[in-house]
Amino acid sequence: MAARGAPMATGAAPGKVILFGEHAAVYGRPAIAAALGSGLGAVVQADAAGPVLHIPAWGQNVRVRPDGTGGFESLSKAFAAALGLAGLDTPEARRVGVTMDGELPPSVGLGSSAAFSVALLRALGQWRGRPFSDAEILEAAFALETVFHGSPSGVDHTVATLGGCLRFERGRTPAYSPVAIAVPVPLVVAFAPRESAGRQMVEGLRARHDALPAVYARIFDAIGEIAEAGVAALAAGDLPRLGQLFTLNHDLLRACGVASAANDALVALARQHGALGAKLTGAGGGGSVIALVPGDPEPLLRACVAGGYGAFATRVDAT
Ligand code: PMV
Repeated sequence: MAARGAPMATGAAPGKVILFGEHAAVYGRPAIAAALGSGLGAVVQADAAGPVLHIPAWGQNVRVRPDGTGGFESLSKAFAAALGLAGLDTPEARRVGVTMDGELPPSVGLGSSAAFSVALLRALGQWRGRPFSDAEILEAAFALETVFHGSPSGVDHTVATLGGCLRFERGRTPAYSPVAIAVPVPLVVAFAPRESAGRQMVEGLRARHDALPAVYARIFDAIGEIAEAGVAALAAGDLPRLGQLFTLNHDLLRACGVASAANDALVALARQHGALGAKLTGAGGGGSVIALVPGDPEPLLRACVAGGYGAFATRVDAT
């Protein structure tokens, strides 16, 4: 099942921002997530020294082997799993080199592991001569996401696979539905290094939840209601309401203990520079914040850079 004459195969997938409902999504509450304009692309070529996967854009010269000999444990396990899922398991079929590229920063809550998984699977599917369907990608990428995140809700890889803006609810069939957006939603994404892995943030909250389940159930219910109100605000094009809901969602994530000092500082910076509201996005413990900035984003972008943070302006398009 090797190259079938194709010298090269490609796959791509976007990153994402969670507009509402991270963490509560793990407990079956709705989350709203939108694909970003930036993502990751994968190119597969024949490589006699393969299998090897190279991500020059991620620094540290990430060069991963599925047997783990190159380090980067989660990436190498996910690479091994992807080769298996694509049926590339004979020594001949495994003579591949994969190069990943893209502007999506890794490990800051913008869905880099999901974009990695989906882009890699798409490229390997094309390489073997039988591309995966979206349904197959959803299933296979979930398997890879469990390598990275233990027991993820599935929101990240669903958006990475399908794109657009989706309402996601774990346990529902289907788990996702499109969200109508009346006017473009202008965002600034600002990020700090993560202090803890997303998986640790999810596990930490699980322990706190299990000690006081009724209390956390109420917080998660409130986050779910905020997500539903967010869907209505997106459909109505009501940006002030959306901003108010961002900030409410952030304050409840603080109550859950997943907002770091850097997340709070970025939310405060955003509000000082014209944001209608801001919240952490993703698992927290550092990582990214989204700010709803209807005016000129430059002052906030400059303030983020001056504070030593990464930042970029983007928008969620109307549908
Ligand atoms: O891995 P991140 O930072 O994109 O966060 C994913 C969202 C969580 O709700 C925290 C976890 C999940 O599986 O939904």
